[in-house]
Amino acid sequence: MDVFLFSFICCKLLFFLSESSFASDTITSSQSLSDGRTLVSKDGSFELGFFSPGSSKNRYVGIWYKNMPVKTVVWVANRINPINDSSGLLVVNQTGNLVLTSQDKSVVWSANLSKVVRTPVVLQLLDSGNLVLRGERDGGSETYLWQSFDYPSDTLLPGMKLGWDLKTGLERRITSWKSPDDPSPGNFIWAVERQDNPELIMWKGSRKFQRSGPWNGLQFSASPLRPNPIFNFSLVSNEDELCYTFDMRDKAAFSRIVMNQTLYLLQRFIWNKATQSWELYSYLPRDLCDTYALCGACGVCIINDLPVCHCLNGFKPKSRGYVDWSQGCVRDKSLNYSRQDGFIKFTAMKLPDATPSRVSKSMNLNECREKCLENSSCMAYTNSDIRGGGSGCAMWFGELIDMRDFPDAGQDLYIRMSASEIEYADQGAKGKPTTKIVVIVVPTAALLAAVLIAGYLIHKSRRNIKTENKRETDQVQNMDLQLPLFELATIANATDNFSINNKLGEGGFGPVYKGTLVDGQEIAVKRLSKISEQGLKELKNEVILFSKLQHRNLVKLLGCCIQGEEKLLIYEFMPNKSLNSFIFDQERCKILDWSKRFHIICGTARGVMYLHQDSRLRIIHRDLKASNVLLDQDMNPKISDFGLARAFGGDETEGNTKRVIGTYGYMAPEYASDGQFSVKSDVFSFGILLLEIVSGKKNRGFYHSDNKLNLIGHAWKLWNEGMPSQLIDPCIQGSFNLAEVIRCIHIGLLCVQQHPKDRPSMPSVILMLGSETVLPQPKQPGYLADRKSTRQDYSSSTPESCSTNTFTISEFEGR
Ligand SMILES: *[C@@H]1O[C@H](CO)[C@@H](O)[C@H](O)[C@H]1NC(C)=O
Ligand SMILES: *[C@@H]1O[C@H](CO)[C@@H](O)[C@H](O)[C@H]1NC(C)=O
Ligand SMILES: *[C@@H]1O[C@H](CO)[C@@H](O)[C@H](O)[C@H]1NC(C)=O
Ligand SMILES: *[C@@H]1O[C@H](CO)[C@@H](O)[C@H](O)[C@H]1NC(C)=O
Ligand SMILES: *[C@@H]1O[C@H](CO)[C@@H](O)[C@H](O)[C@H]1NC(C)=O
Ligand SMILES: *[C@@H]1O[C@H](CO)[C@@H](O)[C@H](O)[C@H]1NC(C)=O
Ligand SMILES: *[C@@H]1O[C@H](CO)[C@@H](O)[C@H](O)[C@H]1NC(C)=O
Repeated sequence: MDVFLFSFICCKLLFFLSESSFASDTITSSQSLSDGRTLVSKDGSFELGFFSPGSSKNRYVGIWYKNMPVKTVVWVANRINPINDSSGLLVVNQTGNLVLTSQDKSVVWSANLSKVVRTPVVLQLLDSGNLVLRGERDGGSETYLWQSFDYPSDTLLPGMKLGWDLKTGLERRITSWKSPDDPSPGNFIWAVERQDNPELIMWKGSRKFQRSGPWNGLQFSASPLRPNPIFNFSLVSNEDELCYTFDMRDKAAFSRIVMNQTLYLLQRFIWNKATQSWELYSYLPRDLCDTYALCGACGVCIINDLPVCHCLNGFKPKSRGYVDWSQGCVRDKSLNYSRQDGFIKFTAMKLPDATPSRVSKSMNLNECREKCLENSSCMAYTNSDIRGGGSGCAMWFGELIDMRDFPDAGQDLYIRMSASEIEYADQGAKGKPTTKIVVIVVPTAALLAAVLIAGYLIHKSRRNIKTENKRETDQVQNMDLQLPLFELATIANATDNFSINNKLGEGGFGPVYKGTLVDGQEIAVKRLSKISEQGLKELKNEVILFSKLQHRNLVKLLGCCIQGEEKLLIYEFMPNKSLNSFIFDQERCKILDWSKRFHIICGTARGVMYLHQDSRLRIIHRDLKASNVLLDQDMNPKISDFGLARAFGGDETEGNTKRVIGTYGYMAPEYASDGQFSVKSDVFSFGILLLEIVSGKKNRGFYHSDNKLNLIGHAWKLWNEGMPSQLIDPCIQGSFNLAEVIRCIHIGLLCVQQHPKDRPSMPSVILMLGSETVLPQPKQPGYLADRKSTRQDYSSSTPESCSTNTFTISEFEGR
């Protein structure tokens, strides 16, 4: 009896198992897949079956990752034709076609094979997530008669091709879902533009929304130039095809690019095995300047300036009075449209919309120039390939739309100008065919308005920089030249011979002085003590690299002075000093109401993300803290001291170091104790900063009267007791939006979680700050109590210095 019962249960169990899944990756002509059953790829990565998205009851056939706690659908068959019950049947029919039918056997969706296939056909789900119909075509060898990778939904997977099969005319593009409940095609499309000079375009309906810039041999020209450790990508362009594709360097890692309709974003995610969740790696558009044609024809967007739109040198806004940038800019001096015209070189540009451009791979830059000059409708040219110093020719025959200043990876662009304009711009550099262009970033709001009106781009030669470094163009940011070198005498003069009265503070690398140049511009001078282990040349190289990092939330390095024993770094002066001089001060804290604080939080986050991800150098700050966030006259936050750790001998970008640089109270546990650092240790410090800004309390030195908890511990306790609002700084009472503050505390706690892998990436932090999506529950943070009580080995650490313009670096040797 028992035996009978047992075998009965076994049978039932077996039956049940075979019901729920074929445990197979294929079906053949004689088989079908009904609702409730699935196909699983050989290595178990992907699963195909019927599903209902979000809160919808409709049934769709789709492919998702198997064994993921969050169901992530990567492909949908019947996007526009859902089945309203469980009667769906996926069949490989007699003529070898893949057909989805519903209850009355009506065809809901089919793979639309044009030819009848008589040989046996096999439907297989591959480990890549590709669903293929294998069979013989015209008696030839076996091929894919059809594959899902050719008909993407909203997701691009590794190995998938975005773009064109030029032989058949098939185009593969990804289209957002209408909503999380409805996979039918939404408004946003990401596609390869089939043109002479191809680029990736994100469309919103029939309007261009964002462009990648044309491919320059290495990458799309509007992406930061750097080797990517996680994936490699290419644009395949030949007679047969034109497509973008990417591969993971670690074949076992999961990654996907998805077009999200609700957020207006194209997002790239990487699967985090440790936390079993998707981590946002990057997204597009990145910022305001990515908005297509924001500044109109011949306008250029400069993200570090406000307002961001400018006209190119030699142009003025077309609209009068109130400037309507969509109308773009017009020339100051009209063209002759003959060989009388010439070209002015603009450096570090995102190249304009490539639709009206033509490419000739065989021409060099000189031939390109000649050809362009000859044709009266040619408006600009440049190299089409930047590899090996540049080759090929791309010419624009039409309006120059959607340019931006792109100091990290932009290209030179030679724009047609009238002879008189060139003469004007070229005064200094006789005999040179082109002119170097400098963008002036003017410090005050009034002058900014002047920039807006005229869009000044002025010319300045290299020689001038060295000898005349303090004309009225003090804050010259040269996009092409090296970092301006200041004379020691100039700086000594500006700081009253490094007078003690001008000293702003003392950091680990030396004192900081305030200075005033002859023309009145205020500067901050960091005088490096002689501790640097690095050679002069290396130091100079590093400093030049940092000078190229430009972001409105980073302090601008204006120049340096390396003369004899003296090594000086010259920065823009920040009149409002550092964040800690406000938030931790009982009186001054009132100046920063909640909206200003939130603005500071968001700006700081963007600055950190730029360092981590968008800058050429991929910098981990390692000493993020309130005293390293400086405030300009409008209370815009600017991060200081980035990259110094690297300049001073620790040039690892990620990994393990013996030399721990940082400040007690802000350091992530794994960094302080083991010297392990990564972008996630900066995220930890950012989290502390966030909690400090909300609470007005220092993490270090905070003791709640009832317990031994530090600020994190206290915040965590309040969070778990459901009283996070008790953390809020009394200074901002009345000025805040409670939901926003609570959200910031929530994000802060996510950033300070014990395990680096649990902490969000900076792109995620920024999205969380900017949207109202549901956030995950934070796990236990690192350091609930002040570590001083438990560990002694860091007693040698310098306390956070309380300098005023604070260029502090506290460093000490880790074990
Ligand atoms: C489901 O769809 C079929 C036809 O597509 C229709 O006849 C039927 O009424 C629908 N059922 C429900 C519950 O909506
Ligand atoms: C298989 O499906 C295709 C597409 O729906 C259809 O045109 C063809 O007639 C079907 N073949 C058979 C034998 O039903
Ligand atoms: C198949 O072809 C029909 C008719 O040409 C078309 O309406 C349908 O959208 C196509 N389906 C797919 C999946 O391409
Ligand atoms: C878009 O992103 C939001 C927020 O992360 C998410 O809730 C939604 O499911 C996404 N939409 C789709 C279609 O995946
Ligand atoms: C990525 O690199 C691998 C190995 O070098 C290469 O085989 C593959 O084709 C590359 N993929 C892309 C999309 O460039
Ligand atoms: C072009 O230049 C020539 C020679 O200098 C001059 O005669 C002509 O008027 C110019 N044309 C225009 C449209 O400026
Ligand atoms: C200039 O180039 C365009 C695009 O290649 C071409 O259509 C046009 O005919 C050319 N004009 C002249 C005058 O050569």
